[in-house]
Parts: sequence; structure tokens; C-alpha cells
Amino acid sequence: MKSTISVGITGMGSSIPDKVVTNDDLSKIVDTSDEWIRTRSGIRERRIVDENTATSDLCTEAAKKALIDANVNAKDIDLIIVATVTADMAFPSTACIVQKNIEATNAAAFDMSVGCSGFLYGVATGANFIKAGVYKKVLVIGAEVLSKILDWEDRSTCVLFGDGAGACILEECNDGYGILSYDLGADGKSGHLLTQPAGGSRMPASHKTIDERLHYVHMEGKEVFKSAVRVMESTSLQALKKANMELEDIDFLIPHQANERIIKSAAKRLKISDDRVYMNLDKYGNMSSASIPIALDEAYRNGLIKKGDILLLVAFGAGFTWASVILKWEK
Ligand SMILES: CC(C)(COP(=O)(O)OP(=O)(O)OC[C@H]1O[C@@H](n2cnc3c(N)ncnc32)[C@H](O)[C@@H]1OP(=O)(O)O)[C@@H](O)C(=O)NCCC(=O)NCCS
Repeated sequence: MKSTISVGITGMGSSIPDKVVTNDDLSKIVDTSDEWIRTRSGIRERRIVDENTATSDLCTEAAKKALIDANVNAKDIDLIIVATVTADMAFPSTACIVQKNIEATNAAAFDMSVGCSGFLYGVATGANFIKAGVYKKVLVIGAEVLSKILDWEDRSTCVLFGDGAGACILEECNDGYGILSYDLGADGKSGHLLTQPAGGSRMPASHKTIDERLHYVHMEGKEVFKSAVRVMESTSLQALKKANMELEDIDFLIPHQANERIIKSAAKRLKISDDRVYMNLDKYGNMSSASIPIALDEAYRNGLIKKGDILLLVAFGAGFTWASVILKWEK
């Protein structure tokens, strides 16, 4: 039976490290330039954590802000989902560490590894627990400390990424608002394009894996670029179809913030004008699963999005994975 419960975002929060690393700073450690990075990616600077900060620390700050914004007590949270590829450690999950930190003693908790599409996978998963009548309040966090798995000698990857966390609270909302549709997908055959090869059961940590720099991000950028543009268009169209909507109905596109050229190409294919596309990657780089919740939080706090706006959130990432969510904003 189809659920009649509508689910929406009732609170948002983010956490961004203080330390700014500019393109000029990077040109002192690898053979690159501000001009190359800006023209190829649109990124001008990114935020990087200090050596003592881990993903759960950013998650905790973002979660506390989201709880305040939603006016929800941590004890009332039923489920915590953390989407990340940079968990504090293999286990326990980062979600369990957050559960302890915010004292959400009644919550179940788990991590999701979905690359940059993780936050949207988390929102879809959390919403379905509420729609099924199982839970009432779900905390979803997208968070990454990518700086700790980047190869700072590899100019083709280290210039593109940054650290951050964004969180939202999902709850039942007024009929017709909230999540109108979503589309999730994966293509494991393309997984080799973006990997952190070592540190798991296939290639456990050893002196050899460290010498060969296999604990860092490895990426075939050009191939990722091509797939990204394609899937951002196709998943968006799928979500629109499921919501019974047209492209003209979309007030704002809030895309995964990987590369300005990818976003502009996808928006062009979707015929969404630049003034309806939210971009902040110039300030933060690609924060993987944290990109969309941080962009959404900023757009909401800056008063750009208002009650009743229809938002299209769309992401692609390691796996390969993709996801899109259509949301009627109610806050
Ligand atoms: C990585 C990316 C910016 C590269 O842009 P591009 O236009 O495809 O550039 P190319 O791969 O053609 O590289 C061109 C040259 O620049 C060099 N280069 C790579 N990184 C560089 C850097 N930081 N500074 C200067 N030169 C660089 C390359 O070595 C290459 O040199 P070569 O032609 O002598 O071999 C682009 O492919 C991209 O953004 N891909 C998607 C990545 C992404 O979004 N990943 C996350 C997915 S969630």
C-alpha cells in the first residue's frame, strides 16, 4: 500500500573547517597554478581540517546545528545515517560515534558508503523509514575529511577536493511538501574510475601498499567527467518523471559541487538557466557527500530558497553511483 505520509527537511546545519587553502597555496606544493585549477574546475579555495580533526567531529557540529534548527531534542532522534567515504575508522561506524557525541541514546545508527551521492541516498533511505511508519525523526549527515586520503603529490586529484559536513533532520511534513520523488542508481562496472584501492580486505594495509601510495584517492578524471554529465541529466529526468513534473517546474538546481564545467554542461542539457543553479564550489572544492547538504544549507540561510520552491538535488560519485531528489521546500 502506498504511504500517505509526506516527509521533508525540518532542519539543516553544516560544519566547515576554518583553514582556507587557496590555489596559490597548492601551487607551492605541486606543479599547478591558480589559472589551471580555476579554468578546469572553477575552484578557487577549499577548507582543510587540522591534524586532530576527524569526520565525526564535523558531523557532530553539523548535527547539533541541524537539531537546533529543527527544534528537535537529540533523545527524540530514531535513526542516524552518516554518508561518508572517510569514516573515522573502519569500525565502529562514524554514525555510532555521532550517536554518542550528541547523546542520541534512542537512535539506531549506521554509515553508508556511496561516494558523492551518499547524502541523497541517505535522505531517500531515511525518508522511507518515516513513510513506512517505523521512525519519526531521522538525522542524515553527509561528511568527508578527504584531505586525509588525498595524495598531496598528485596534482590531478589533490587540487579538487575539500573537507566539510552537512546535516538535515527528516520528519513528517505537510501534505504535498517535502520529498516529491527520488531516483537512485549505480554502475559498478565503472567503479575503477574513482577508488581508494588499499586499506580494505582486498588489499590490507602493508608497507608495500603505503610505498605504492595506494591508500590515497585514485581517479581517471576525464572518464569521470563524461559519465557525470550524462548521469546528472538522466537521473534528473527520471526523478522529474516520477514526480510527474516538467523541467520548467524546477526553481533551483542544487547539484553536487565537483566541477563548474560539469555542472554547467548538465544544466545546459537540462535547459536550466545559470541563475537557477546554486554553486559554491569556488569556496570549498568537491566535498563529496557533504557538498549538497552544505550548498542546500547555504542557499536556505542566505534566503535564496523560500517556502514552496521546487528544488532538484542531483549527485554522482564513486561506485559509480548517482542520485536525484525533488523537494518542495517547506521551511
Ligand atoms: C580532473 C579534471 C579537472 C581535469 O580536467 P581536463 O580538462 O580533463 O584535463 P586533462 O585531464 O586533459 O589534463 C590536461 C593536462 O593537465 C595536467 N594536469 C592535471 N592536473 C593538473 C593540475 N592540477 N595543474 C596543472 N596541470 C594539471 C595533466 O597532467 C594533463 O597534462 P598532459 O596533457 O601533459 O598529460 C577534469 O577531468 C574533471 O574535473 N574530472 C572530473 C573529476 C571529478 O569531478 N571527480 C569527482 C567525482 S565525484
